Amino acid sequence: MLRSFFDDWVQVDLEEAKHFSMLDKRLIEVGAAYGDLPAHDELWQAAEETRSSLIARLAIIPLVPEAYGLDTTPPMIEKAKTGGDDATAHILETIYRDEKRHVAFGAKWFRFL
Ligand SMILES: [Fe+2]
Repeated sequence: MLRSFFDDWVQVDLEEAKHFSMLDKRLIEVGAAYGDLPAHDELWQAAEETRSSLIARLAIIPLVPEAYGLDTTPPMIEKAKTGGDDATAHILETIYRDEKRHVAFGAKWFRFL
């Protein structure tokens, strides 16, 4: 694959780590902690199921769960703002902006393949 393929996904990795750190810090600020609530591992399951096919990985991960996040995040931002939680709304706005790029990378490389 082209060098730019790896550059794009390293950027995604950096941003996903940033997202986790921002949310982890915000949970602590509101007196909670990562793991307090049940979470699904669908992303990991999808990674496992597509481990032998790059085009399947690109067709699934950035174009389904990450794309779905583009549908679910705006109402979450509104809910945070309505509840007076501008700090969380700001974090979600940052994540939403980055995730658009992740889905775009997924579409770009899927088409490429
Ligand atoms: Fe992402």
